[in-house]
Amino acid sequence: MNSKDAREPSEAELAEMDRDQLLKLGGALDGVEIVDYPDPWPVKGTRAEKRAERGVALWFLLAGLAGLAFVVLLCWPDVWRYKAPEAEGTFWYSLYTPALGVTLGLAILGLGVGILLYTKRFIPHELAVQERHDGGGEGSSEIDRKTIVAHLEDAGHRSTIARRSLIKRSAALGGGALGLGLVALPVASFIKNPWTEPDPANTLWHTPWGPEHPGDVVYLRRYTGNSHDIVLLRPEDLDAGGMETVFPFHESERNDPEKLSAVFNRSDTPVMLIRLRPEDAARVVKRQGQEDFNFGEYYAYSKICTHVGCPASLFEQRTNRILCPCHQSQFDALHYGKPIFGPATRALPQLPITVSADGYLVARSDFVEPVGPAFWERKS
Ligand code: FES
Repeated sequence: MNSKDAREPSEAELAEMDRDQLLKLGGALDGVEIVDYPDPWPVKGTRAEKRAERGVALWFLLAGLAGLAFVVLLCWPDVWRYKAPEAEGTFWYSLYTPALGVTLGLAILGLGVGILLYTKRFIPHELAVQERHDGGGEGSSEIDRKTIVAHLEDAGHRSTIARRSLIKRSAALGGGALGLGLVALPVASFIKNPWTEPDPANTLWHTPWGPEHPGDVVYLRRYTGNSHDIVLLRPEDLDAGGMETVFPFHESERNDPEKLSAVFNRSDTPVMLIRLRPEDAARVVKRQGQEDFNFGEYYAYSKICTHVGCPASLFEQRTNRILCPCHQSQFDALHYGKPIFGPATRALPQLPITVSADGYLVARSDFVEPVGPAFWERKS
């Protein structure tokens, strides 16, 4: 029967038809002739069929276990917290991100391979021929809707999924665990409280640039490649138009190798010390309330981009622009580090600096605002 031969049944006849009849009718109306529609497992319950079923279930099971491992890792308390290279637990911390990637990857792989294998081994591979025709732009009729539904039901029926409880259960485990992981991924970051640090100096509002006790002097320290070297900066160490990344140094850290190196691994310590050329320094626009944050031609800005926290490491001497390579934000060093291009919307925090009695560059206080990207509790 083809579309020319097919007779449209009356409504009463249509209501009486079972799925097989609707299937044939739908094909005929569309000019589709099913040439071959073999059942992949004509003899039910063979060992080969059971083996194929277990093979599919195994992949779904792998997806489930990997998905659950991903969720557990994501929610495990404190394992995600940054550890400096020399600190205790660094090895396990270094495995955290790879472990997240591997477990999520395995969950997706397991689910994908399971679906592919099921399609390959259990869904009948029909061979059909269809006449070409133009639908004429008319909407679907009742017959079309019914016959299409019959086609879909038939596909579900012939896939034999209804009687394969092992595959259904393992697929539910795999899909459920993966779905749970995908929900946990954005939600987990909201349930970890960043304000539970016992030491207030480590919260988002403070950096090691602040004095540890009254009278504590915080020097600008150069990084030489050896984290135990203590090289402090004097104004004459930087040429006009130059930029150098500096870190805080407290006299109390002099004989503490752990603290001396830890300061280089913190995300809130790097500061760009810029010495403007005299002709550029004359054009500087200062931020209200921060008019004395510079020392002559020397300006110090946090190196942490206010977009999402990459190091804004590039300073273009000719234009006095600070560039963040991550998403191309640009900040104007002559205009209190305010953003002039790219996605960043806040100025780079400026560190108030001066020169100590012994001629070294020092910080006058901590930053007056949090460094880095925005977070809910900050006002600016
Ligand atoms: S992190 Fe700097 S532009 Fe995005």
